[in-house]
Amino acid sequence: MANRFVLNNISYHGSGAIKEIPGEIARRGFKKAFVCSDPDLVKFGVTAKVTDLLDEAGIAWSLYSEIKPNPTIKNVQDGVTAFKESGADMIVTIGGGSSMDTAKAIGIIVENPEFADVVSLEGVADTKNHATFTIAVPTTAGTAAEVTINYVITDPDKVRKFVCVDTNDIPDVAVVDPDMMASMPAGLTAATGMDALTHAIEGYTTRGAWELSDMFHFKAIELISSNLRDAFAEAKSGQPASGREGMALGQYVAGMGFSNVGLGIDHAMAHTLSAHYDTPHGVACAMLLPIAMEFNKPVVAKRLAEVAVAMGVDTAGMSEDEAADAAIAAVKQLSADVNIPATCDGLVESDLDQLATDALNDACYPGNPREATHEQVVELFRKIMA
Ligand SMILES: NC(=O)c1ccc[n+]([C@@H]2O[C@H](COP(=O)([O-])OP(=O)(O)OC[C@H]3O[C@@H](n4cnc5c(N)ncnc54)[C@H](O)[C@@H]3O)[C@@H](O)[C@H]2O)c1
Ligand SMILES: [Fe+2]
Repeated sequence: MANRFVLNNISYHGSGAIKEIPGEIARRGFKKAFVCSDPDLVKFGVTAKVTDLLDEAGIAWSLYSEIKPNPTIKNVQDGVTAFKESGADMIVTIGGGSSMDTAKAIGIIVENPEFADVVSLEGVADTKNHATFTIAVPTTAGTAAEVTINYVITDPDKVRKFVCVDTNDIPDVAVVDPDMMASMPAGLTAATGMDALTHAIEGYTTRGAWELSDMFHFKAIELISSNLRDAFAEAKSGQPASGREGMALGQYVAGMGFSNVGLGIDHAMAHTLSAHYDTPHGVACAMLLPIAMEFNKPVVAKRLAEVAVAMGVDTAGMSEDEAADAAIAAVKQLSADVNIPATCDGLVESDLDQLATDALNDACYPGNPREATHEQVVELFRKIMA
Protein backbone atom coordinates (compact mmCIF):
# COMPACT_ATOMS: atom_id res chain seq x y z
CA MET A 1 0.00 0.00 0.00
CA ALA A 2 1.25 3.50 -0.80
CA ASN A 3 2.26 5.80 2.04
CA ARG A 4 -0.05 8.79 2.37
CA PHE A 5 0.89 12.23 3.65
CA VAL A 6 -1.59 15.00 4.55
CA LEU A 7 -0.63 18.51 5.68
CA ASN A 8 -2.36 21.91 5.99
CA ASN A 9 -2.91 23.81 2.75
CA ILE A 10 -1.29 26.87 4.29
CA SER A 11 0.49 27.47 7.57
CA TYR A 12 1.97 30.62 9.09
CA HIS A 13 4.72 30.61 11.71
CA GLY A 14 6.38 33.11 14.00
CA SER A 15 5.61 36.04 16.20
CA GLY A 16 2.78 38.16 14.79
CA ALA A 17 1.48 35.42 12.48
CA ILE A 18 -2.11 36.01 13.64
CA LYS A 19 -2.15 39.25 11.60
CA GLU A 20 -2.57 37.03 8.52
CA ILE A 21 -5.98 35.75 9.68
CA PRO A 22 -8.29 38.57 8.48
CA GLY A 23 -6.74 38.45 5.00
CA GLU A 24 -7.19 34.68 4.76
CA ILE A 25 -10.89 35.10 5.60
CA ALA A 26 -11.54 38.16 3.44
CA ARG A 27 -9.88 36.87 0.27
CA ARG A 28 -12.19 33.87 0.27
CA GLY A 29 -15.27 36.04 0.68
CA PHE A 30 -16.49 34.50 3.94
CA LYS A 31 -19.11 36.56 5.73
CA LYS A 32 -18.95 35.45 9.36
CA ALA A 33 -16.56 33.51 11.58
CA PHE A 34 -17.62 30.99 14.23
CA VAL A 35 -14.97 31.44 16.93
CA CYS A 36 -14.42 28.26 18.89
CA SER A 37 -12.38 28.79 22.06
CA ASP A 38 -12.54 27.81 25.74
CA PRO A 39 -13.89 29.88 28.68
CA ASP A 40 -10.50 30.51 30.35
CA LEU A 41 -8.96 31.75 27.12
CA VAL A 42 -11.87 34.15 26.72
CA LYS A 43 -11.52 35.28 30.34
CA PHE A 44 -7.76 35.90 30.09
CA GLY A 45 -8.01 37.81 26.82
CA VAL A 46 -6.17 35.26 24.67
CA THR A 47 -9.14 34.78 22.34
CA ALA A 48 -9.47 38.56 22.01
CA LYS A 49 -6.00 38.82 20.46
CA VAL A 50 -7.58 37.32 17.34
CA THR A 51 -11.14 38.64 17.60
CA ASP A 52 -9.75 42.22 17.95
CA LEU A 53 -8.10 41.71 14.56
CA LEU A 54 -11.42 40.50 13.11
CA ASP A 55 -13.14 43.60 14.52
CA GLU A 56 -10.49 45.90 13.03
CA ALA A 57 -10.99 44.23 9.64
CA GLY A 58 -14.80 44.49 9.89
CA ILE A 59 -15.29 40.70 9.90
CA ALA A 60 -18.39 39.56 11.83
CA TRP A 61 -17.96 36.72 14.31
CA SER A 62 -19.82 34.87 17.03
CA LEU A 63 -18.29 33.03 19.96
CA TYR A 64 -18.76 29.44 21.11
CA SER A 65 -16.84 28.58 24.28
CA GLU A 66 -18.72 25.73 25.99
CA ILE A 67 -15.60 23.58 25.86
CA LYS A 68 -13.94 21.80 28.78
CA PRO A 69 -10.46 20.27 28.81
CA ASN A 70 -10.86 16.70 27.48
CA PRO A 71 -13.96 17.89 25.54
CA THR A 72 -17.17 15.87 25.59
CA ILE A 73 -19.74 14.69 23.06
CA LYS A 74 -22.10 17.35 24.45
CA ASN A 75 -19.51 20.11 23.86
CA VAL A 76 -19.48 19.05 20.19
CA GLN A 77 -23.25 18.69 19.79
CA ASP A 78 -23.97 22.04 21.48
CA GLY A 79 -21.36 23.54 19.19
CA VAL A 80 -23.06 22.18 16.07
CA THR A 81 -26.34 23.77 17.23
CA ALA A 82 -24.57 27.06 18.00
CA PHE A 83 -22.87 27.03 14.59
CA LYS A 84 -26.21 26.60 12.80
CA GLU A 85 -27.82 29.38 14.85
CA SER A 86 -24.88 31.75 14.28
CA GLY A 87 -25.20 32.12 10.54
CA ALA A 88 -21.42 31.72 10.27
CA ASP A 89 -19.84 30.22 7.15
CA MET A 90 -16.36 29.37 8.48
CA ILE A 91 -14.60 28.49 11.75
CA VAL A 92 -11.71 30.13 13.57
CA THR A 93 -10.60 27.97 16.47
CA ILE A 94 -8.33 29.46 19.12
CA GLY A 95 -7.06 27.24 21.90
CA GLY A 96 -5.33 24.10 22.93
CA GLY A 97 -6.17 20.64 21.69
CA SER A 98 -9.53 20.74 23.45
CA SER A 99 -10.82 23.78 21.54
CA MET A 100 -9.30 22.70 18.23
CA ASP A 101 -10.58 19.12 18.51
CA THR A 102 -14.08 20.35 19.34
CA ALA A 103 -13.98 22.68 16.34
CA LYS A 104 -12.83 19.85 14.09
CA ALA A 105 -15.74 17.64 15.18
CA ILE A 106 -18.20 20.52 14.75
CA GLY A 107 -16.91 21.26 11.24
CA ILE A 108 -17.15 17.60 10.28
CA ILE A 109 -20.74 17.20 11.55
CA VAL A 110 -21.94 20.46 9.97
CA GLU A 111 -20.86 19.09 6.58
CA ASN A 112 -21.71 15.43 7.29
CA PRO A 113 -24.88 15.54 9.44
CA GLU A 114 -25.33 11.75 9.37
CA PHE A 115 -22.56 11.66 12.05
CA ALA A 116 -24.48 13.92 14.48
CA ASP A 117 -24.25 11.29 17.26
CA VAL A 118 -20.45 11.99 17.34
CA VAL A 119 -19.65 8.43 18.52
CA SER A 120 -19.96 7.05 14.99
CA LEU A 121 -16.92 9.19 14.08
CA GLU A 122 -14.63 7.00 16.19
CA GLY A 123 -11.71 5.36 14.40
CA VAL A 124 -11.36 5.95 10.68
CA ALA A 125 -14.58 7.78 9.84
CA ASP A 126 -16.05 7.42 6.36
CA THR A 127 -17.17 11.03 5.94
CA LYS A 128 -17.92 12.27 2.42
CA ASN A 129 -17.30 15.99 2.77
CA HIS A 130 -14.43 18.10 4.06
CA ALA A 131 -15.12 19.94 7.32
CA THR A 132 -16.26 23.55 7.24
CA PHE A 133 -13.37 25.83 6.21
CA THR A 134 -11.27 26.23 9.38
CA ILE A 135 -8.39 28.39 10.54
CA ALA A 136 -6.74 26.88 13.63
CA VAL A 137 -4.71 28.96 16.07
CA PRO A 138 -2.98 26.91 18.80
CA THR A 139 -2.48 28.53 22.22
CA THR A 140 -0.52 25.60 23.70
CA ALA A 141 2.69 24.15 22.31
CA GLY A 142 1.70 20.53 22.46
CA THR A 143 -1.06 18.74 20.61
CA ALA A 144 -0.45 20.08 17.08
CA ALA A 145 -4.17 19.53 16.49
CA GLU A 146 -3.90 22.41 13.97
CA VAL A 147 -2.04 20.10 11.58
CA THR A 148 -3.30 16.63 12.46
CA ILE A 149 -6.03 14.52 10.90
CA ASN A 150 -7.14 13.43 14.39
CA TYR A 151 -9.38 14.67 17.13
CA VAL A 152 -10.14 13.17 20.52
CA ILE A 153 -13.54 13.35 22.25
CA THR A 154 -14.63 12.10 25.69
CA ASP A 155 -17.73 9.98 26.26
CA PRO A 156 -18.39 10.60 30.00
CA ASP A 157 -21.18 7.96 30.18
CA LYS A 158 -18.82 5.24 29.01
CA VAL A 159 -15.80 6.77 30.84
CA ARG A 160 -13.70 6.73 27.70
CA LYS A 161 -11.95 9.00 25.24
CA PHE A 162 -12.16 8.08 21.59
CA VAL A 163 -9.89 9.05 18.73
CA CYS A 164 -11.33 10.02 15.35
CA VAL A 165 -9.08 9.84 12.29
CA ASP A 166 -10.31 11.59 9.17
CA THR A 167 -8.41 13.41 6.42
CA ASN A 168 -11.48 15.63 6.01
CA ASP A 169 -10.90 17.22 9.41
CA ILE A 170 -7.49 18.82 8.86
CA PRO A 171 -7.74 22.59 9.31
CA ASP A 172 -7.25 24.42 6.02
CA VAL A 173 -5.00 27.08 7.53
CA ALA A 174 -2.82 26.80 10.66
CA VAL A 175 -1.53 29.95 12.34
CA VAL A 176 1.25 29.02 14.76
CA ASP A 177 2.10 32.21 16.61
CA PRO A 178 4.25 31.84 19.75
CA ASP A 179 2.76 35.05 21.16
CA MET A 180 -0.57 33.18 21.49
CA MET A 181 1.21 30.75 23.83
CA ALA A 182 2.99 33.39 25.93
CA SER A 183 0.35 33.38 28.69
CA MET A 184 0.71 29.65 29.40
CA PRO A 185 1.60 29.03 33.05
CA ALA A 186 4.68 26.92 33.76
CA GLY A 187 2.77 23.69 34.51
CA LEU A 188 0.83 23.88 31.25
CA THR A 189 4.01 24.72 29.30
CA ALA A 190 5.63 21.60 30.75
CA ALA A 191 2.67 19.26 30.24
CA THR A 192 1.88 20.33 26.68
CA GLY A 193 5.57 20.39 25.75
CA MET A 194 6.01 16.83 26.99
CA ASP A 195 2.91 15.83 24.97
CA ALA A 196 4.72 17.16 21.91
CA LEU A 197 7.89 15.24 22.81
CA THR A 198 5.77 12.10 23.23
CA HIS A 199 4.29 12.63 19.74
CA ALA A 200 7.77 12.94 18.30
CA ILE A 201 9.26 9.90 20.08
CA GLU A 202 6.20 7.65 19.67
CA GLY A 203 5.95 8.78 16.05
CA TYR A 204 9.62 7.95 15.49
CA THR A 205 9.16 4.43 16.86
CA THR A 206 5.63 3.67 15.65
CA ARG A 207 4.98 0.72 13.31
CA GLY A 208 4.23 2.91 10.29
CA ALA A 209 7.29 5.20 10.59
CA TRP A 210 9.14 5.81 7.30
CA GLU A 211 11.64 8.27 5.86
CA LEU A 212 9.26 11.18 5.44
CA SER A 213 7.83 10.93 8.97
CA ASP A 214 11.32 10.26 10.42
CA MET A 215 12.47 13.57 8.98
CA PHE A 216 9.81 15.48 10.91
CA HIS A 217 10.09 13.49 14.13
CA PHE A 218 13.86 13.69 14.38
CA LYS A 219 13.80 17.47 13.94
CA ALA A 220 10.89 17.79 16.38
CA ILE A 221 12.78 15.84 19.08
CA GLU A 222 15.76 18.19 18.59
CA LEU A 223 13.63 21.34 18.75
CA ILE A 224 11.56 20.27 21.75
CA SER A 225 14.39 18.87 23.86
CA SER A 226 16.51 21.96 23.28
CA ASN A 227 13.72 24.50 23.93
CA LEU A 228 11.35 23.12 26.57
CA ARG A 229 13.51 23.99 29.59
CA ASP A 230 13.83 27.60 28.40
CA ALA A 231 10.11 27.90 27.70
CA PHE A 232 9.36 26.49 31.15
CA ALA A 233 11.82 28.88 32.84
CA GLU A 234 10.28 31.78 30.95
CA ALA A 235 6.79 30.81 32.07
CA LYS A 236 7.97 30.57 35.69
CA SER A 237 9.84 33.87 35.74
CA GLY A 238 7.69 35.90 33.40
CA GLN A 239 10.91 36.95 31.66
CA PRO A 240 11.23 36.50 27.91
CA ALA A 241 13.46 33.62 26.85
CA SER A 242 14.14 31.97 23.55
CA GLY A 243 12.21 28.75 24.20
CA ARG A 244 8.68 29.68 23.10
CA GLU A 245 9.41 30.12 19.41
CA GLY A 246 11.24 26.77 19.23
CA MET A 247 8.45 24.98 21.10
CA ALA A 248 5.75 26.44 18.83
CA LEU A 249 7.63 25.14 15.81
CA GLY A 250 8.76 21.86 17.38
CA GLN A 251 5.25 20.77 18.39
CA TYR A 252 3.96 21.62 14.88
CA VAL A 253 6.74 19.65 13.18
CA ALA A 254 5.94 16.67 15.43
CA GLY A 255 2.30 16.95 14.33
CA MET A 256 3.30 16.93 10.65
CA GLY A 257 4.82 13.54 11.34
CA PHE A 258 2.64 11.62 13.79
CA SER A 259 -0.63 12.64 12.18
CA ASN A 260 0.44 10.63 9.16
CA VAL A 261 1.84 7.51 10.82
CA GLY A 262 0.17 7.10 14.21
CA LEU A 263 1.41 6.76 17.77
CA GLY A 264 1.50 3.87 20.23
CA ILE A 265 0.89 2.48 23.69
CA ASP A 266 1.78 5.70 25.54
CA HIS A 267 -1.09 7.61 23.96
CA ALA A 268 -3.43 4.59 24.26
CA MET A 269 -2.76 4.47 28.01
CA ALA A 270 -2.81 8.27 28.40
CA HIS A 271 -6.27 8.56 26.83
CA THR A 272 -7.51 5.97 29.29
CA LEU A 273 -6.07 7.83 32.29
CA SER A 274 -7.68 11.12 31.18
CA ALA A 275 -11.06 9.43 30.68
CA HIS A 276 -11.00 7.90 34.17
CA TYR A 277 -9.32 10.64 36.22
CA ASP A 278 -9.46 13.75 33.98
CA THR A 279 -5.64 13.75 34.05
CA PRO A 280 -4.33 16.55 31.80
CA HIS A 281 -3.36 14.90 28.52
CA GLY A 282 0.26 16.07 28.52
CA VAL A 283 0.87 15.00 32.11
CA ALA A 284 -0.53 11.54 31.36
CA CYS A 285 1.69 11.23 28.25
CA ALA A 286 4.79 12.46 30.05
CA MET A 287 4.62 10.20 33.09
CA LEU A 288 4.15 7.18 30.80
CA LEU A 289 6.82 8.08 28.23
CA PRO A 290 9.93 6.50 29.80
CA ILE A 291 7.83 3.47 30.77
CA ALA A 292 6.56 2.99 27.21
CA MET A 293 10.09 3.49 25.78
CA GLU A 294 11.47 0.87 28.18
CA PHE A 295 8.70 -1.56 27.19
CA ASN A 296 9.35 -1.03 23.47
CA LYS A 297 13.16 -1.13 23.74
CA PRO A 298 13.50 -4.83 22.84
CA VAL A 299 12.08 -4.12 19.36
CA VAL A 300 13.19 -0.50 18.69
CA ALA A 301 16.57 -0.15 20.43
CA LYS A 302 18.22 1.24 17.28
CA ARG A 303 15.56 3.91 16.91
CA LEU A 304 15.78 4.83 20.59
CA ALA A 305 19.55 5.16 20.21
CA GLU A 306 18.82 7.70 17.44
CA VAL A 307 16.40 9.50 19.77
CA ALA A 308 19.31 9.93 22.20
CA VAL A 309 21.30 11.66 19.45
CA ALA A 310 18.34 13.95 18.63
CA MET A 311 18.14 14.83 22.32
CA GLY A 312 21.75 15.97 22.28
CA VAL A 313 23.28 12.98 24.09
CA ASP A 314 26.87 12.21 23.07
CA THR A 315 26.50 8.52 22.23
CA ALA A 316 30.05 8.07 20.92
CA GLY A 317 31.44 4.85 22.36
CA MET A 318 28.06 3.60 23.55
CA SER A 319 26.52 0.34 22.39
CA GLU A 320 23.07 0.53 20.80
CA ASP A 321 21.56 -0.73 24.04
CA GLU A 322 23.41 1.86 26.13
CA ALA A 323 22.37 4.66 23.78
CA ALA A 324 18.72 3.53 23.97
CA ASP A 325 18.98 3.61 27.77
CA ALA A 326 20.52 7.08 27.51
CA ALA A 327 17.45 8.26 25.56
CA ILE A 328 15.17 6.97 28.31
CA ALA A 329 17.34 8.66 30.95
CA ALA A 330 17.29 11.94 28.99
CA VAL A 331 13.48 11.85 28.84
CA LYS A 332 13.29 11.19 32.60
CA GLN A 333 15.67 14.08 33.28
CA LEU A 334 13.73 16.50 31.07
CA SER A 335 10.45 15.49 32.75
CA ALA A 336 11.99 16.02 36.19
CA ASP A 337 13.47 19.39 35.15
CA VAL A 338 10.02 20.67 34.18
CA ASN A 339 8.36 19.23 37.32
CA ILE A 340 6.23 16.49 35.75
CA PRO A 341 4.93 14.18 38.49
CA ALA A 342 5.97 10.52 38.32
CA THR A 343 2.69 9.13 39.66
CA CYS A 344 -0.97 9.55 38.74
CA ASP A 345 -3.49 10.89 41.27
CA GLY A 346 -6.55 8.70 41.65
CA LEU A 347 -5.05 5.56 40.13
CA VAL A 348 -5.96 2.54 42.29
CA GLU A 349 -5.29 -1.19 41.99
CA SER A 350 -8.98 -2.06 41.50
CA ASP A 351 -9.10 0.05 38.30
CA LEU A 352 -6.11 -1.54 36.61
CA ASP A 353 -8.00 -4.32 34.87
CA GLN A 354 -10.45 -1.91 33.21
CA LEU A 355 -7.71 0.58 32.33
CA ALA A 356 -5.71 -2.11 30.54
CA THR A 357 -8.78 -3.26 28.60
CA ASP A 358 -9.54 0.30 27.52
CA ALA A 359 -5.94 1.04 26.54
CA LEU A 360 -5.75 -2.06 24.35
CA ASN A 361 -8.97 -0.94 22.60
CA ASP A 362 -7.70 2.61 21.98
CA ALA A 363 -7.12 3.59 18.33
CA CYS A 364 -3.47 4.49 19.09
CA TYR A 365 -2.52 1.04 20.39
CA PRO A 366 -2.18 -0.76 17.01
CA GLY A 367 0.63 1.65 16.08
CA ASN A 368 2.79 0.38 18.94
CA PRO A 369 5.84 -1.50 17.63
CA ARG A 370 5.58 -4.22 20.29
CA GLU A 371 2.46 -6.17 21.13
CA ALA A 372 1.42 -6.12 24.77
CA THR A 373 -0.65 -8.62 26.72
CA HIS A 374 -3.37 -7.48 29.10
CA GLU A 375 -1.14 -8.41 32.06
CA GLN A 376 1.77 -6.40 30.67
CA VAL A 377 -0.40 -3.29 30.32
CA VAL A 378 -1.63 -3.73 33.90
CA GLU A 379 2.00 -3.88 34.96
CA LEU A 380 2.84 -0.70 32.99
CA PHE A 381 -0.01 1.19 34.68
CA ARG A 382 1.14 -0.11 38.07
CA LYS A 383 4.46 1.69 37.56
CA ILE A 384 2.75 5.11 37.84
CA MET A 385 0.65 4.23 40.91
CA ALA A 386 1.45 6.37 43.95
N1 LIG B 1 -5.98 16.28 17.66
C1 LIG B 1 -4.84 15.75 18.01
O1 LIG B 1 -4.06 15.33 17.15
C2 LIG B 1 -4.49 15.69 19.46
C3 LIG B 1 -3.18 15.30 19.81
C4 LIG B 1 -2.89 15.24 21.19
C5 LIG B 1 -3.84 15.57 22.12
N2 LIG B 1 -5.10 15.92 21.73
C6 LIG B 1 -6.15 16.28 22.73
O2 LIG B 1 -6.01 17.66 23.07
C7 LIG B 1 -6.51 17.86 24.41
C8 LIG B 1 -5.47 18.54 25.26
O3 LIG B 1 -5.14 19.79 24.70
P1 LIG B 1 -4.05 20.76 25.39
O4 LIG B 1 -3.06 19.93 26.09
O5 LIG B 1 -3.59 21.69 24.34
O6 LIG B 1 -4.86 21.54 26.50
P2 LIG B 1 -6.39 22.07 26.57
O7 LIG B 1 -6.84 22.59 25.27
O8 LIG B 1 -7.20 20.99 27.21
O9 LIG B 1 -6.25 23.29 27.58
C9 LIG B 1 -5.92 23.04 28.94
C10 LIG B 1 -6.11 24.33 29.75
O10 LIG B 1 -5.10 25.25 29.38
C11 LIG B 1 -5.67 26.53 29.16
N3 LIG B 1 -4.86 27.26 28.16
C12 LIG B 1 -4.67 26.93 26.87
N4 LIG B 1 -3.85 27.81 26.26
C13 LIG B 1 -3.52 28.74 27.20
C14 LIG B 1 -2.74 29.92 27.18
N5 LIG B 1 -2.09 30.33 26.07
N6 LIG B 1 -2.66 30.64 28.31
C15 LIG B 1 -3.29 30.25 29.45
N7 LIG B 1 -4.05 29.14 29.53
C16 LIG B 1 -4.17 28.38 28.40
C17 LIG B 1 -7.07 26.25 28.67
O11 LIG B 1 -7.91 27.35 28.90
C18 LIG B 1 -7.45 25.03 29.50
O12 LIG B 1 -7.98 25.41 30.74
C19 LIG B 1 -6.85 16.48 24.95
O13 LIG B 1 -8.24 16.25 24.86
C20 LIG B 1 -6.08 15.54 24.03
O14 LIG B 1 -6.62 14.24 23.97
C21 LIG B 1 -5.41 16.01 20.43
FE1 LIG C 1 -0.93 13.84 22.58
